[in-house]
Parts: sequence; C-alpha cells; structure tokens
Amino acid sequence: MPVLGIETSCDETGVAIYDDQQGLLANQIYSQVRLHADYGGVVPELASRDHVRKTVPLIQAALLEAGLQAKDINGVAYTAGPGLVSALMVGATVGCALAYAWRVPDIAVHHMEGHLLAPMLEANPPDFPFAALLVSGAHTQLIAVTGIGEYQLLGESIDDAAGEVFDKIAKLLGLDYPGGPLLSLIAQQGVAGRYTFPRPMTDRPGLNFSFSGLKTFAANTINAVARNAQTDADVARAFEDAVVDTLAIKCRRALDQTGLQRLVIAGGVSANQTLRTRMKEMIEQRGKGEKVFYARPELCTDNGAMIAYVGMVRLPSCTKRKSQLAVTVRPRWPLEELTTVRT
Ligand code: KG4
Ligand code: ZN
Repeated sequence: MPVLGIETSCDETGVAIYDDQQGLLANQIYSQVRLHADYGGVVPELASRDHVRKTVPLIQAALLEAGLQAKDINGVAYTAGPGLVSALMVGATVGCALAYAWRVPDIAVHHMEGHLLAPMLEANPPDFPFAALLVSGAHTQLIAVTGIGEYQLLGESIDDAAGEVFDKIAKLLGLDYPGGPLLSLIAQQGVAGRYTFPRPMTDRPGLNFSFSGLKTFAANTINAVARNAQTDADVARAFEDAVVDTLAIKCRRALDQTGLQRLVIAGGVSANQTLRTRMKEMIEQRGKGEKVFYARPELCTDNGAMIAYVGMVRLPSCTKRKSQLAVTVRPRWPLEELTTVRT
C-alpha cells in the first residue's frame, strides 16, 4: 500500500513514497536554502513560488525512483500545518488534486507529528510509550507519547525555539542562513569554558524552556569582544553547549517526571552532533537502562519521508475519498488536537 507524501511547509520541497510492507521506496528533496540566503531568512512568497516549480517534478522523480506508476499509489499525504500558509497551500493543493484525480484518500498531516515519528523510519524504532523532545526552527516541546495521536504536552518554549536561536546567533556571527549547522561547525574549533552562558530556566522546576535571554546574553558577548575567528568559535561553542545542556537537563527531568524508559529526539536540531553526545552522556550517567532514539540526520530536518510515513499510519482511518476539491491548511495547529490511531 504505497503512500505518497508531500512536504512544503517551509523552505524544503520534499516528496517521498512509503509502503507499509517495503518501507521507504523513494525520498526526493529540494532545498531552497540558496534562494533565501541573500535575505538571511525564509521569504514566504519566494518559498511558495519555488514549491510550485519543484513539487510536480519531484513527484515524477519519486515515482521513477520507486518504480511505481500513479495507479499504484493508495493515498496522498501532504503537510497541512503548522507552517507558512502560502507554502503549505502548494503541497496541499497538489496533494488534494492528485488524490481527487487518482480516486484515493488525501491525508492532511501535522508537520510535527512527521518529525516526532521520523525515528520510526529507522532500523530499531522505539516502542510506545516514550518521551519526546521536538526541537526544530519553530518548536521546542517535550511530549509524553503513548501511541499514534496520543500526545500530552509536558513543556514548551515560552519564547524562541531552539533552532531559531541557533539561526539568530549564527547570523550575528556572520554565518549564512540557516546558520544552525554552520554555527555547530565553527563551535568545533571553540575552546570549551572560554565563555560561560546561562542555562535558562533550569534552576526552577518545570519543563518549559526560554531561549530569548540566552540569545541576548550571546548577542551582548558578541558585541563586547574583539572579534576574530577564534573568539567567534569560542562564542559558538559556549552558546551550543548552553543550549544543548539546557535541553539535556529538561529531558532528564522529563524522564524523572514520567518514569518513561525511552526518549525520542526529533526535528532539525536533533541532527546536531553535540546534542547527541550530550544526551548519550546524560542517559549513561543515569544508569537506568534508558534509551534514546533519533532519525538519521537527513530525516531530522524537513523531508517528505516523514510525511509519507504518517500518511501510511493514518491511511486506514482516513479512507474517505474527496467528493469535492476543497483545500484547507492550518498554519497553527496544536499537536494535541490530533486524533488517536489504534495500531
Ligand atoms: O525541523 P526543521 O528542518 O524545520 C522546522 O520545522 O523548523 O528545523 C530547522 C532548524 C533550523 O533552525 C536549523 O538551523 C536547525 O534546525 N538545525 C540545526 C542543525 N541542523 C539543523 N541546528 C543546530 N545544529 C544542527 N546540526
Ligand atoms: Zn520541520
């Protein structure tokens, strides 16, 4: 039962095909990074125009990669939110139109559920229940997951998301958009402990995050020092260590609070190697036999595979075909509103 998945919520056009028996059959991605680089961030109008150009050719490429034809596809999943409305509309319109034409169900997928379940695409996927840390460019959330669609929010950022502060500090250091991975790269040359940045909201109970104070602290440091490549690397190192440490402290607290044995870390920032090392240390120090799960780095950032996977999971409870071509997207969409799927 192959399902086509389309992701256009931000600056990546992703198209993939997932089959319940054979797994991932195709995974096509086109990144708009260069298109937005001159502007230092995503320009929604440019993003949606580029999705218009790329989505259909990527669908053709995905079918070719999978060795399938349109008639073989059993459902069309598309990211319906959260995200940039004009960008979401492209994938939703193409997805719904194809589902209508092919007479198969269309499946509106929540982008963060895609991230959350991306580790399921790997060889040793986590069993339910698990705690999940979602860290992307727009979200920082801790969630207790008891099944598909059973998501209880434990805590979230009250201001900036982790990925967003990575990108903002990277920009202040003169790095191109999106700066998160580039900041992490220069941090490798930084000397640990040359600067010490705060671990926000770790000195009081609770599972919420706040990164705007850390951002200001880092910005003030950048303005105060005589800058050269080494001080930039030292600042990057101090900043990355502070973010990653803060995330690890909150994950530890979430495991204590819930008693869960498994921790899933997902979303773009989960591709960060320092974060993975720090989480491994944290789990080992606890010595409780807990396990941490990730997707491979290219499935941590935005992609069509995670959308096709959620489409496959939700297809059985979504069997109605379109009787008219109405297309709706949800730029804001709380994860807790999703329906439960019994597996
Ligand atoms: O999940 P994602 O691809 O898109 C959203 O749904 O937002 O996440 C993108 C975010 C960006 O802020 C990017 O800088 C960050 O993830 N990111 C990283 C790394 N790779 C991606 N941040 C730190 N280190 C990385 N290696
Ligand atoms: Zn994302």
